[in-house]
Amino acid sequence: MKVYFDNAATTAMDDGVIDAMIPYMKEHYGNPSSVHSHGREVRSAIEKSRKKVAELLNASPSEIFFTSGGTEADNTAIVCGIHTHGIKHAITSPIEHHAVLHTLEECEKKGHIKLSKVEVDEFGSINLDHLQELLKANPKSLVSIMHANNEIGNINDLSAIGNIAKEYDAFFHSDTVQTMGHYPHDLKNLPIDAVVAGGHKFHGPKGAGFLYVNKAKKITPFIYGGAQERNMRGGTENVIGIVGIAKALELAYEDMDGHRKHIEKLKSRFIEQLQENIAGVSFNGLSADMDKSLYTVLNVSLPPSEENSGMLLFNLDLHGISASGGSACSSGATVGSHVLRALGASAERDSVRFSFSRFNTAEEVDYTVGKLKELYGVIA
Ligand SMILES: Cc1ncc(COP(=O)(O)O)c(C=O)c1O
Repeated sequence: MKVYFDNAATTAMDDGVIDAMIPYMKEHYGNPSSVHSHGREVRSAIEKSRKKVAELLNASPSEIFFTSGGTEADNTAIVCGIHTHGIKHAITSPIEHHAVLHTLEECEKKGHIKLSKVEVDEFGSINLDHLQELLKANPKSLVSIMHANNEIGNINDLSAIGNIAKEYDAFFHSDTVQTMGHYPHDLKNLPIDAVVAGGHKFHGPKGAGFLYVNKAKKITPFIYGGAQERNMRGGTENVIGIVGIAKALELAYEDMDGHRKHIEKLKSRFIEQLQENIAGVSFNGLSADMDKSLYTVLNVSLPPSEENSGMLLFNLDLHGISASGGSACSSGATVGSHVLRALGASAERDSVRFSFSRFNTAEEVDYTVGKLKELYGVIA
């Protein structure tokens, strides 16, 4: 049996997305900047896609910029947000994705900003009092705090963080890569300046993403060149990807509750079965809390075991199960997980992230728990 439980890394494309993209590979190949009919029909597809994305997120089309993915969108929001608004101080959390952390660290290295990190506890929860203190001392900062963590699944309260950021006139960017297409976003009613998406996290194509920037907080371009994306991102558009990401978001919204219910059942089943079958199992961050974590992510911490130490993902792979992980330790070939280290997770335990999609089944959960039981049978 082959099981794909690495949907936080990337997802399978939906057939409906592929069908929407194919005409833009075959028949509609014009350059969208060309003024002739071949170009115009492709331009129209891009603008329809932008309108669709904006409608679904309750934003204006002029606030949506297509990018090559979540990483580029994060980089743009951060680097251009800092530059455009003359920001000298930024606040992030130690458990952000490297698309945010490395970008901010580079800005600090270049002397553009001073960077502060807000405290997180052993469950990965952000200390909002500390955020407030940091902002009080440094108003007009850039705040970059993710909506949900890609490793442990913790969901942050964007309204609460945004309201604090607003109080101190901060520019608030959130890496929403793991929630876009899985949770509804009502951007006109959120106190937020920039959010991002990567299409491949919700059954769309890889190499296609978008950035939303609130029209009250415009930023300067990241990529200079032609006038594409209203002068914000030079370069001939990834038309196929743009059509694909908009279709993927549309399909995600069509039955978001249905997908959620299906995946929540799988996650609950997984937690229950692990607790029944593996002595000493625990869960990293808030990932076992169904209300406070992504329904798509379960980060499992397994008891120390000589046979599996450092080999767990390999052993699962031998049984056809694809998952991902990273332990708290950073030695040998693996650099470990900066998220688990920030939570103070034990380096002796192996951690594995199982992440689910609407295409997974209960049978796959049972098979995976069965294999984990075999691998950890000595202990159970
Ligand atoms: C939270 C988060 N941010 C950013 C990214 C990067 O997105 P992309 O692969 O679209 O560049 C990822 C992907 O793993 C992610 O999980």
